[in-house]
Amino acid sequence: MGDIDLSVQVTAGLRLINPVIVASGTWGYGDEYNDLVDIQKLGAIICKGTTLKPRNGNPQPRIIEVTSGILNSVGLENIGVEALISDKAPAWAKWSVPVIVNIAGDTVEEYARVAARLEGVAGISGIEVNISCPNVKRGGMQFGTDPVSAAEVTAAVKASTSLPVIVKLSPNVTDIVAMAEAVEKAGADAITLINTISGMAIDVKKRKPALGNITGGLSGPAIKPVALLMVYKVAGSVKIPLIGCGGIMNAGDALEFILAGATAVEVGTANLADPQAAFKIIGGLHKYLDSENIRKVSDLRGAARL
Ligand SMILES: Cc1cc2nc3c(=O)[nH]c(=O)nc-3n(C[C@H](O)[C@H](O)[C@H](O)COP(=O)(O)O)c2cc1C
Repeated sequence: MGDIDLSVQVTAGLRLINPVIVASGTWGYGDEYNDLVDIQKLGAIICKGTTLKPRNGNPQPRIIEVTSGILNSVGLENIGVEALISDKAPAWAKWSVPVIVNIAGDTVEEYARVAARLEGVAGISGIEVNISCPNVKRGGMQFGTDPVSAAEVTAAVKASTSLPVIVKLSPNVTDIVAMAEAVEKAGADAITLINTISGMAIDVKKRKPALGNITGGLSGPAIKPVALLMVYKVAGSVKIPLIGCGGIMNAGDALEFILAGATAVEVGTANLADPQAAFKIIGGLHKYLDSENIRKVSDLRGAARL
């Protein structure tokens, strides 16, 4: 059926041809996948978390498999904002797929400076603010667990950019609704829910923590029910669009998030197992709409809410 409409409006300035976005840290800077798949068919690409200066990340091992997911402690290894602008953005400017830059910092000022540096750079369609990285010693997470700090970072980034600002929240909190309301009030244009859930594993042979960093972030199918509940709860309390993320492996998973109230979804760990995963999800959404006689995916948003 030719008239199926998968497009979604994430923010005023950000319309996607479909709701499937590849999640930060699982798709590099996009160009790595260019020869494998047609990246222009994605809804959007979110690049690896970017800081003011390049970072090396945490000691190895940094990714291990656990039951129904993975634990990672990559810890924001990245090329830094200057190299991103000079080496990556010029290619993005030629792409039709929007690229959103995921940013992080140790201080409110650092977040604001990274955002300000991206202003006016061709090839960048939005900023996703990572206030939720559990794998770095300073910054990141501290902003993601306190509504006042989260609001401060959001306001500082908003004041430094004219790009759409999406704030990515951490699930490692007592009250996700309070966090979402705080960043909405501070001016966020949209919210991504969720980043990884803190966890660890122990190597029984070595009798030591399995990750070099001791703790890591759990992602993959294991976290989907947690992420889904957070989207469902937050959708009932904020007006800005939500991007659902956490354990989405197939079109059925993506639909659950949309039915819970998400405007779009991010696919992370699934990409590591299968670089075609996001494309299969796009195809699966199309098939579902076709078989259910629904023309627009946006008509499904929140349809399961009671
Ligand atoms: C290896 C790896 C690296 C990640 N790096 C980042 C990052 O730099 N910034 C960020 O906001 N999230 C990062 N994430 C979190 C993902 O974007 C996503 O929020 C999380 O993995 C949950 O989704 P999933 O279950 O589909 O993977 C990373 C996840 C993984 C697995």
